[in-house]
Amino acid sequence: MLPQAFTSAPSVDQSNFRFHCIGCGDFPTTAGQDFRCAHCGDLLEITFPRWKDTKPNAEELRSIWSARRLSSERIDLSRVDLSGVWRFRELLPGFSSGEATAGKSDPQVITLREGNTPLYELPQCARITGVPRLFAKHQGMNPTGSFKDTGMTVAATFARRAGFQWVACASTGNTSASMAAYAARGGLRSLVLVPEGKISWSKLSQALDYGAVTCQLRTDFDGCLRLLQELVVRAPVYQLNSINPFRLEGQKTLAIELLEQLNWHPPDHIIVPGGNLGNSSAIGKALLEMRDLGLISRLPKLSVIQAAGANALVRTIREADGKQLVSVRPETRATAIRIGNPASWKKAVHVLQATGGACEEVSEIEIAQAKAEIGAEGIGCEPASAVTLAGLKKLVMQKFVKPDESVVLVLTGNLLKDPDYTIDFHRGDLFKSDTSAEISLKPLRRPPIVLDATLDAVMRTLEQAEKA
Ligand code: F0G
Repeated sequence: MLPQAFTSAPSVDQSNFRFHCIGCGDFPTTAGQDFRCAHCGDLLEITFPRWKDTKPNAEELRSIWSARRLSSERIDLSRVDLSGVWRFRELLPGFSSGEATAGKSDPQVITLREGNTPLYELPQCARITGVPRLFAKHQGMNPTGSFKDTGMTVAATFARRAGFQWVACASTGNTSASMAAYAARGGLRSLVLVPEGKISWSKLSQALDYGAVTCQLRTDFDGCLRLLQELVVRAPVYQLNSINPFRLEGQKTLAIELLEQLNWHPPDHIIVPGGNLGNSSAIGKALLEMRDLGLISRLPKLSVIQAAGANALVRTIREADGKQLVSVRPETRATAIRIGNPASWKKAVHVLQATGGACEEVSEIEIAQAKAEIGAEGIGCEPASAVTLAGLKKLVMQKFVKPDESVVLVLTGNLLKDPDYTIDFHRGDLFKSDTSAEISLKPLRRPPIVLDATLDAVMRTLEQAEKA
């Protein structure tokens, strides 16, 4: 039987942050289970009004964060300093300023040592795009293989602090994998709603392994999310979709860590895939906050790339000037971003406009090609992440990105997240009925070769590969 204790709004200590409605500007003292404003129904965000009077000092922050990263006293595994998210806790909700500087272990924090992800150079993709200073921030190197972990550690921690026993999400796969893992670590139970047949087996298997109650619903992601909204007002479950503003706070640390890795010299461009649009909103929020706190002197342009078959934000900007959402019926093999009705579209429009970024769409063939090119760098990513490289090529053609500018692609998911896609691509099955696509992609394909188990056969194959 479901516990009956927590049917009301989560009550959490708000001493270091406030909820703020992005629509009417209200500052509610609590957030309802749907994280929407009780007056106007718009989404809530988290703000830090105290920064107005006692602004954290940029130089001090940089040195605290760096000391935590380099500390040789990181032996106590429960210390939050080991997390690449909580290391930046001065810019997160949840710690009072005294606690933050003390850096003490917090038994309530649920962490898998997320964050601390690598920033790679992409020399081959740099040659292909004609942008020499090209980097990838690989969020697929997080504990469950996607960027979701950075948000989940914060939001799951708040779920536990608020006393919830159940957490739930609608997902295209990665959120559910991440949520299930953090719930398991934190002794919480988790409920997953995913569209049947529309998420990769790899992601589904994670949710199962981490012990989630996993429901495959006969609908798409948007249908799952709609149902979740109804569920959370009826049952005492805490929702962990990116509507939950604590998720976005954790995801902000991607941008903070990136700037730290670049020695606080902002890149000219950051390019991110867009699905439900939580991540772009989070990265943009971090950039604006870092600028306001004096951690960076100028804003990178944040651009969002979508699959052409799931291009709600692109159409919202082109057809409605960013003023109202143009929903679409989504279709793409990049299943992580197969979303037609993105919840955080308003937040994303805001950060695009504030940073001067672009919004583009890319075709299925462009995604497949870009994914293979990133793979050929020895890095690899899932299809949704590859939209960033495909989008960059377009932005270079449009001269929005100039060859002398620096660019960071945010790779959101690990290659192993969707092995079926990769195998279909290399076997030539991805665009089976489209011969011209298969011809243009053939040079990038490396199909597996079945041979007799003889030395001769392998030697011949080696010689042929050497000549090719
Ligand atoms: N890349 C990957 C690998 C994703 O899993 C997602 C979203 C995105 C990009 C888009 O991020 O939604 O913040 O704009 N996946 C969600 C999920 C929807 O349920 O796993 P967004």
